[in-house]
Amino acid sequence: MTFELQHTDDASDARAGVITTDHGQILTPIFMPVGTEGAVKAVHFDELREEIKAQIILGNTYHLYLRPGLDVLRAAGGLHGFNGWERPILTDSGGFQVFSLTGIRKLSEEGCEFRSHIDGSKHFFTPENVMDTERIIGADIMMALDECPPGLSDYTYAKNSLAMTQRWLDRCIKRFDATEPLYGYRQSLFPIVQGCTYKDLRVEAAKFVADKGADGNAIGGLAVGEPTEVMYEMIEVVNAILPKDKPRYLMGVGTPQNILEAIERGVDMFDCVMPTRNGRNAMLFTYEGTMNMRNKKWETDFSPLDEGGCHIDRVTTKAYLHHLFKAKELLAMQIASIHNLAFYLRLVTDARQHIIAGDFTKWKASVIDQLGRRR
Ligand code: GUN
Repeated sequence: MTFELQHTDDASDARAGVITTDHGQILTPIFMPVGTEGAVKAVHFDELREEIKAQIILGNTYHLYLRPGLDVLRAAGGLHGFNGWERPILTDSGGFQVFSLTGIRKLSEEGCEFRSHIDGSKHFFTPENVMDTERIIGADIMMALDECPPGLSDYTYAKNSLAMTQRWLDRCIKRFDATEPLYGYRQSLFPIVQGCTYKDLRVEAAKFVADKGADGNAIGGLAVGEPTEVMYEMIEVVNAILPKDKPRYLMGVGTPQNILEAIERGVDMFDCVMPTRNGRNAMLFTYEGTMNMRNKKWETDFSPLDEGGCHIDRVTTKAYLHHLFKAKELLAMQIASIHNLAFYLRLVTDARQHIIAGDFTKWKASVIDQLGRRR
């Protein structure tokens, strides 16, 4: 994988670049739709390609390891072979999901023990077996196994947790370097900066990660309950240290406003369940603000969902989508998910064009307040 920085904004740290993988190019800044179980919920790949113009999607090691399982994935030639998505894939390492999804878990230096949320069976993740699993899934970008400590952890917890995440990173790198891709195309390993909301820990974590010389670097442990301003401050602290010539991925963030603020601070890659999860819950994101499609005000509004949006946005009326949600039609969730993902991709594409044109900060200032409005 390579990263070419094409433009850096004069007035901010925003950048436009291009990541090249063996499954194709990714223009940055980029938003990556979340496809936890090998599918983006309620959205077919044809729509992801044509309507949404997704360039890369996520998969999750925890979920894919449990189901369909490694035997099926290996036999299929990896996740690309299994689900038919031929563009790049990134897999999260599973640690975050183990902590957020499984009630019973034991964390130790060796790794983390957890019970499957599907059938209660016991499993153990280590840095080594997670690397092996991500090799089998075959993502273009593999994430290191980390601990994402609970939001607002105390300093001692955060410091000890970070130290373990760093030892786990060294073990991940060792295993990654000792193994080969299984399907004939290259894979990259991204380390993750942790350190909660403590500046000194974030600085140490960023230096530790920067020293590894990875193809790209991630910032984790944010948007877990801390104030938004603190999140922005942590991004600034970390990005002042992470190498400029490698892509920077902010994990699990966020609202359209969060994404523009992070782009301004030098982040290149994003993922979040918000466009799909909120979409399934009738909330649409637009440049003019958010809309609750269950609201009676849309009952007789026969204007298109979003004039400037994707094809489905232009041929679907607000009144019709309102009706679909009221009638609990599955198509409601499908249309809302497509709209929101297409909007997120449009947002980062617009950001990229304004970075290249040299007026990113002016453009951002002109749209940011509207994005948060309730329509
Ligand atoms: N997704 C959102 N935040 C995180 C994090 O801190 N670590 C991992 N592995 N995934 C995440």
